[in-house]
Amino acid sequence: MTSEKANSDHWSLDDILLDSVEIGRVRPREELFLLLAGASFVETGSDLYTRNLVEQFQGDAEVSWWLANRWQPEELQHGRALRAYVNRVWPEFDWQAAFAAFLADYSLGCTTEELEPTRCLEMAARCVVETGTATYYRAIQTLSDEPVLGRLVGFIQRDEVRHYKHFFRYFNKYNELEHNNRATVLGALARRLLEMLQSDAEYGLWHAFRARHPRTSRKGREFRRAVARTKALVRRHYPAPMAIKMFLKPLALPPALNRLSYHAANLAQRLILR
Ligand SMILES: [Fe+2]
Ligand SMILES: [Fe+2]
Repeated sequence: MTSEKANSDHWSLDDILLDSVEIGRVRPREELFLLLAGASFVETGSDLYTRNLVEQFQGDAEVSWWLANRWQPEELQHGRALRAYVNRVWPEFDWQAAFAAFLADYSLGCTTEELEPTRCLEMAARCVVETGTATYYRAIQTLSDEPVLGRLVGFIQRDEVRHYKHFFRYFNKYNELEHNNRATVLGALARRLLEMLQSDAEYGLWHAFRARHPRTSRKGREFRRAVARTKALVRRHYPAPMAIKMFLKPLALPPALNRLSYHAANLAQRLILR
């Protein structure tokens, strides 16, 4: 696929008709506010991570070019579009101030040391992140009934799946050089999955929540309850088969083992998302 072709299906902020948003369908739902504002922070902060990634792939012109000219601008566009939507529905929310607080917190955990030790394994880890985002937006699309939001998260979700495909292709490219065995690849997948479950989303949710409830604490009951409600909502609409299929793909399991792993992963995922 050429880079021009890869970008030919792209969309812009003009495709999101903010004047048509049916505000009453979204505004009362605090969980949606947390999910969308939190996602807008993580997406907008993604350039921190890109810098680390681009450094790790110095010398590989194809990957560096794609990261800097396609992947990063698209992630930033996700952030801008989500921010615009959030501002439209909750105009009293001071996005800039909440994002500044998020960034100060988030940037502490975003250093080159947290990348995987080899290029192939980092690409496997990136597949996990794109699996997480693609399924997150799919869940939001299912759980919301506001048409403009549905269209917006539909665009974003398709971008995330496309990102996954790129990272998966680069994973294969580097595995031909590195010859990692399945256990090693599984280690990278599991590490990034755990890291993602514990950190990224929660940073976003917390800074969105704190902006509305300045007197609360991150470990306090009010925030923990809001997180529990938000996670429960996502879990009810989460596309588990899609997530497991994407998560297991870099392991290239034989079909019989793949079926077995699917059931094991399904169970593990239910336990993790409890
Ligand atoms: Fe994104
Ligand atoms: Fe992405």
